[in-house]
Amino acid sequence: MALCAYGHSQNLSNFILKSRSIGNDHARRRTDSMMVKMVSSSSSTGAKAYEEGQLQMPKWAGQTPLSRLVQSIIAFKPLYSFLKLGARQVLIRTAEKKDIPWRELTREVLESDVYKELEIVQNSSVIYPDYYLNSFHAYDEGNLSWLAAAEAEPATMAMVRRAIPDASSLDEANRAMRGNWLQTIEQHHLQHSGNHVIKDILDVGCSVGISTRFLADKFPTAKVTGLDLSPYFLAVAQFKEKKVAPRQNPIKWIHANGEETGLPSKSFDLISFAAVLHECPERAIVGLLKEAFRVLRPGGTIALTDQAPRSKILQELSPVLFTLLKSTEPFLDEYYLTDLEGRLKEIGFVNIRNVLTDPRHMTVTATVPR
Ligand SMILES: C[S@@+](CC[C@H](N)C(=O)[O-])C[C@H]1O[C@@H](n2cnc3c(N)ncnc32)[C@H](O)[C@@H]1O
Repeated sequence: MALCAYGHSQNLSNFILKSRSIGNDHARRRTDSMMVKMVSSSSSTGAKAYEEGQLQMPKWAGQTPLSRLVQSIIAFKPLYSFLKLGARQVLIRTAEKKDIPWRELTREVLESDVYKELEIVQNSSVIYPDYYLNSFHAYDEGNLSWLAAAEAEPATMAMVRRAIPDASSLDEANRAMRGNWLQTIEQHHLQHSGNHVIKDILDVGCSVGISTRFLADKFPTAKVTGLDLSPYFLAVAQFKEKKVAPRQNPIKWIHANGEETGLPSKSFDLISFAAVLHECPERAIVGLLKEAFRVLRPGGTIALTDQAPRSKILQELSPVLFTLLKSTEPFLDEYYLTDLEGRLKEIGFVNIRNVLTDPRHMTVTATVPR
């Protein structure tokens, strides 16, 4: 099955547009927002839309009785430990069934000389916000461990395969998921920046650099910086980047809090947050968006890609799966309850668009006024 080509397809006739205005009111926000569904093409069936569910968000998220029930189950510590273990085993098993050599990839990193990269990338003056010191993704030390860093690549691969379940390979799934995301960003920037060339890109929450490399490949003339709070993830990012062919513009890695980057104002044309915000409480989301607004140049584009509350697949997730998911994501409810588009508007962003770029994820793009 041919899915939307990564990065190069200009197949924007595949968009289905539903014009709605942006509102601040949380209750109205999902229906009021400009929601655009990205369509992937399939050689056998022709155009196929990514489906929205009937609800504003899944019943297992937010403040519904079901959501509270799941939260109280997770809050029971002995059960939580059991769930965490279960979630981890399910992740590894399902990834390996999809030909993702999880344990082999992890071992390769842990048995390499990645450790020396830590000294190079780590900024010892970074202060970690409280929320970041939580256990995430079934790791007690959250993102601050070598195991989390070594498993980040297979975990990302598994996430991509889940997002595009019909794809016959990881490559095909990446072409669809990352391709639609990049195409949405490029299209937004072309339409709203006023001929503003993308010279500097910041990938906030770059993790081990996968999204950063996709951005660098898509915009090869731009200078790309990956920024993350985990020095372990950045060490792996730098280690992996050293193994690939040198780039015209080498990627720069910065260990910092995306809420206080220390970067000069108006110094980037594109700031991306890929799969970052669902890991953050609302106060951090707002801090990240405000900092992006400061650091972007007028006409610059912000791109947020993450779980889509309107996704039919997410709304229909089985109780076992959503309980496991919530047990490893401490801020998922807050993320689902955050009015991202309203927040962007309050901060001063304009041209806010929301695109369903794969069956599970949306990409929200917006512009800093010129
Ligand atoms: C799921 S990962 C991102 C994956 C990556 N962008 C990709 O698409 O392949 C989320 C990342 O956000 C980072 N993060 C969370 N809060 C952050 C903050 N305040 N500043 C910088 N990075 C943050 C975490 O350390 C983690 O690496």
